[in-house]
Formats: sequence, structure tokens, C-alpha cells
Amino acid sequence: MSSPSTGSRIQIGPRPSRLGPLIKSGGAGSVYLLPDYPDSVAKIYHARVDPPSYTDRVEAMLQLRPKLPDQLEGGKRYVQIAWPDAVVRDERGRFIGFTMPALDVDSTSEVEQVLQERQARAAGLPVGLGHKVTLAANLASVLAALHAQHHYVVDLKPVNLRFYRASLYIALLDCDGFSIQGLGRRFHAPQFTPDYLAPEYQVHTLTEAGEETQDRFALAVVIFQLLNFGIHPYSGRPKHDRVPTDVPGRIRERCYAYGRRGNAAMEPNPVSAHAMMPVQLRDLFDRAFGQTPAARPSSAEWGDALRAYAQPSRGLIVVCAKHREHQHYAGQSCASCMRQELLTRTARNAVPRPKTVSPLPPIWTAATRVQLQ
Ligand SMILES: Nc1ncnc2c1ncn2[C@@H]1O[C@H](COP(=O)(O)OP(=O)(O)OP(=O)(O)O)[C@@H](O)[C@H]1O
Ligand SMILES: [Mg+2]
Repeated sequence: MSSPSTGSRIQIGPRPSRLGPLIKSGGAGSVYLLPDYPDSVAKIYHARVDPPSYTDRVEAMLQLRPKLPDQLEGGKRYVQIAWPDAVVRDERGRFIGFTMPALDVDSTSEVEQVLQERQARAAGLPVGLGHKVTLAANLASVLAALHAQHHYVVDLKPVNLRFYRASLYIALLDCDGFSIQGLGRRFHAPQFTPDYLAPEYQVHTLTEAGEETQDRFALAVVIFQLLNFGIHPYSGRPKHDRVPTDVPGRIRERCYAYGRRGNAAMEPNPVSAHAMMPVQLRDLFDRAFGQTPAARPSSAEWGDALRAYAQPSRGLIVVCAKHREHQHYAGQSCASCMRQELLTRTARNAVPRPKTVSPLPPIWTAATRVQLQ
């Protein structure tokens, strides 16, 4: 029998229906519009991934939904998580996929694209601290709702996270690849990314018991990057030549240079904003990247802390008096000014290169040199 495609008859729960036009095909399945349900789409698994093997996982997702209401803003409804709503079967009643709320993917961007200021500006994405804190707060809140049901993303990293450009709400897609809590059974996540893997799992295999602490670690890395010009918390300047050159090696050796007490092996990246963060946030990062995995802040704790900074009425983030487009924490100096001055000074002192060798504008060359240390 041919695999289901546009026009195929399907059953959504008990109701007969049809698949509409294909939206996009991914590694595990294809996502289709549903003419009978304009607010929903269907993900149909590719035959090669053995669709029936997803049956119990999707059933478990239907039973334990994260409590995440759609957000209404400016007359628009924002779906924060594409969680399954109903099972999809073929004409003969075989499991082939699921329906989920339709989400306007074109109005979203990857969190990765907002991390580097230059890239964000070029893409017309926000660069201000207030926006970044809002994004971080929204991300932590979505994860808190997921974690409350004991589901974990596991492969949590900026390229896997999307947000709505207009509202800065998070849009969590591809949820069937998460680690899912079933009734008396867990459905594991198949992959993780070493640059976002906690120190303890750089050494030992990541097990079921560690998935929440792993998500807490990866969340802290993403928040650190969001609040600190895209700098990875395990990058910096090695103090000696025994410091691993790769990020996973530095995570394993606990080369976190941005703690309140500093690090024996690493110096911070000189353009880092960590010294201009409030103590409350620095302490949260210190717990996230410290020696004790059990002390890592939960997603809910991050959400509570960040939400206060994200609310303009609280006045915890203010507009810079010198540069109106900069924002900084109240009572702290402006990290964007510090960064800009340092980058300009580095560019001025840089040895000029012949034009044929370096096609990049000088400021970009300087920024790259400073950031890659
Ligand atoms: N709820 C949704 N509403 C609208 N479009 C969606 C939705 N879910 C997924 N898509 C689109 O379909 C694509 C593939 O979906 P998804 O990532 O779930 O599939 P996948 O096969 O698991 O992919 P991957 O190999 O990346 O894991 C997405 O990148 C997105 O463009
Ligand atoms: Mg997938």
C-alpha cells in the first residue's frame, strides 16, 4: 500500500477526514494541512521510521499534556507548544501519526539567530537586553510547564528553539522527539548535543534519572548566551595549555570562567557582560554551572527570577543614558557600552590586513577575534 499523502483518507480520532497540502517534510515525518480543521495540522510518520513504534509515545503525550495555554496578544493567538491533540490512523485503522495545533512557523525565528548581535540586527531581530530577558523568561516558563509533567527536551539548544518575532513567545516544535513520561513508562529522547551536555554526562551516560538536571543545565547555557551576547559559558581564555580546546572538554573539566569566584583554568571573554549582571542572576548561573548537579536551578525558578526583569514596570532594566538603543540592569553600568568600546579599541589597534586576504569589514574581524578566544 502507498504511504499516506495529500488527498489520502485518514481518521482523526473517530472522525473520517483527508490530508491537505504538505507543509514540510522532516526526518521523522511529513506535516500536512487539514482542510477540515484549519487550526490543526497532521504529522504523518515516514514508513521508514516504523510508525507503530510511535503509538504508545503519542498516546502517552495525549494523556499527560503540559499546561500551556495559547497566549493572546494584539488580537493574535500564539501557540507556545505543538503538542499532539489526537491520533491519526489510515483507512484500515493503522496508527500513522497525530494532529497538533497549527503554528505560523514563518512568523518565528530560531533562538540561535538572536544570539549574535550582528546576525540579529541583519535579520531584523531584537538586540536589546529587555527583549533577551523576555525571551529567556518565556523559554523558562514553557520548560517549567513541560517539566511539571516530567517531560524533558534533552536536546535543548538554540537551533532547536523558535520564538515569535512579534511577541517573543516561544514556539516549541517537534515535541514527539522529547523524553516523554508515560503512565509507568518513559519514552526516551534519542539524541543530545555535547556543547549543551552537563559535566556529569560528559563522563557518564545520560540516564532517565538525569534528564531533568540535563535540561536545567542546557537551559542555563541558553539563558547565559541570551543575556551575554551569545558567549558560551564554557568559552573564554585558557590560563594554561592543559585546558581542553573543545567546549565538551571544557564542560567536563568545569572551566566556567564567569562565576563570582573566577576559575583556576579560564579567564572570561573580555567582552562578557557577566560582571554587570545582578547578583541574583549571577548566583543562579553559579548554581547551574557549579559542582553540584542537584543545586541547579529548576526551569520554574529561572522563570520566576527572569519574569521580574522582563516586566518594564518593575524598572529592573533601564535604558542607557549614553546610548538610547542600549539597555542595562538598574544600578549596573552598561555592558553594551563596555563591549562597543572594547571592540572599537581592538579594531583600532588591529594590524591592518591586506584587503585581498580579509574580505570582511574591520569591525567584524575584530569582533570575531575577540569572541573566538
Ligand atoms: N504544528 C505545526 N504547525 C505548522 N508547521 C509545523 C508544525 N509542526 C511542524 N511543522 C513544520 O514541519 C516541519 C517538520 O516537523 P517536525 O520537526 O515535527 O518533523 P521531524 O520529521 O521530526 O523533523 P526533524 O527531523 O527536524 O526532527 C517543521 O520544521 C515545521 O516547518
Ligand atoms: Mg523530530
